[in-house]
Amino acid sequence: MIGAGAAGLMAAGQAGQRGRRVLLLEHTDTIGAKILISGGGRCNFTNLDMRPERFLSANPHFAKSALARYTQHDFIQLIARHKIAYYEKTLGQLFCEGVGAAKQIVALLVQECGNGNVDIRTGVAIHGVTKNESGFTLATSLGGFDTQALIIATGGLSIPKLGASDFAYRIAHQFDHAIIPPEPALTPMIFGPDDRAWMAPLSGVSVEAEVATGKVGFREGLLFTHRGLSGPSILQISSYWRRGQAIAVNFAPDVVLGAALIAMKRERPRLHVETALRAFLPDRLAQAFLAQNLADGGVHGGLSLAEHKDTALHAFGAAISKFTLMPAGDEGFAKAEVTRGGVCTAGLDQRTMQSRTIAGLHFIGECVDVTGWLGGYNFQWAWSSGWCAGQAV
Ligand code: FDA
Repeated sequence: MIGAGAAGLMAAGQAGQRGRRVLLLEHTDTIGAKILISGGGRCNFTNLDMRPERFLSANPHFAKSALARYTQHDFIQLIARHKIAYYEKTLGQLFCEGVGAAKQIVALLVQECGNGNVDIRTGVAIHGVTKNESGFTLATSLGGFDTQALIIATGGLSIPKLGASDFAYRIAHQFDHAIIPPEPALTPMIFGPDDRAWMAPLSGVSVEAEVATGKVGFREGLLFTHRGLSGPSILQISSYWRRGQAIAVNFAPDVVLGAALIAMKRERPRLHVETALRAFLPDRLAQAFLAQNLADGGVHGGLSLAEHKDTALHAFGAAISKFTLMPAGDEGFAKAEVTRGGVCTAGLDQRTMQSRTIAGLHFIGECVDVTGWLGGYNFQWAWSSGWCAGQAV
């Protein structure tokens, strides 16, 4: 088994506990590196509201079987058995309790591997894999190994400094598996100089927003950064966004902003527009919109609501509620939480993750073309696909 991340550790523990002799090889010196830093050190390990439609894949049905065979409730039971305290943060997202508590998840997986007598070796370079009559031969910095079954769990391309590599794609290519081009997903977005000019001074400002591209939309936090936008709503939409597409942002999703400003005008006509706007937006963001001369500059922050026509307030509110932005790109694999695309699911059996053409070869976790939403979905895919392969080898 290659790759001691979330999926590989899960698969190794399961296979070992079924009596298989398991060797788990990892090329860095750390196991479960992404688990340790995930969720700000608290690891958002699953989501109560697990649904197949919250995963992106060329085949949206592929993930259903694994997610049904090993569910979020199965993992929660495992967490409970290991007496790890957890809590629901928001939107069904389950996190470990306490700063740095993510290490308890790694400890759990290591213990499960120990229960199955899994031999975990770190700092091992894998030079190559060849097929032999009964299985596979691995050439490694520890020497050669023969194995009947080979599980590839080396993840995607996100965060190279944590050990990400294209190993899984190279093996897939070697064994004639198709690959959906890997792209950064769950990543902050960057903008051109014109947008950066007004966004950068807002760096650090956050707001609840509705962000959409095409028919897909998310309502969650949005954060201004020096280079553009981040926060959960932006990370989520980045997985669906394609270069050249616009995104539409509603910066005040709780109200119909134009109508709300007009209603305020009736109640408190002498109120300045800037003060009125602050009821719905953070101060600095309200100022930034007023400075931009939205809706043909017909609205002035220093003038009262009564000094504006309803049509002007309506148009101004509509501009903020349907703010169209053209991202210049995303922050790439260096900052992407996950990689979308990967080993094409058409070549894999959905129950076992085994290659349909090469007996004994399995791909699990993030290297497969299954990408979850933000919120614990990606770890659940790692647990579910890892469990399935662990039962099959
Ligand atoms: P993973 O990347 O975990 O493991 C792959 C392993 O293979 C690594 O140990 C790597 O070093 C090793 N490897 C790579 N190439 C190799 C080679 N050539 N030879 C040997 N070993 C090799 N998800 C979620 O659900 N909730 C969350 O809170 C978060 N938070 C989060 C934060 C950050 C900063 C990131 C980057 C990602 C997340 N994620 C997340 C996503 C989650 O971490 C990810 O989906 C899983 O770790 C994927 O598990 P895998 O086991 O497939 O890959």
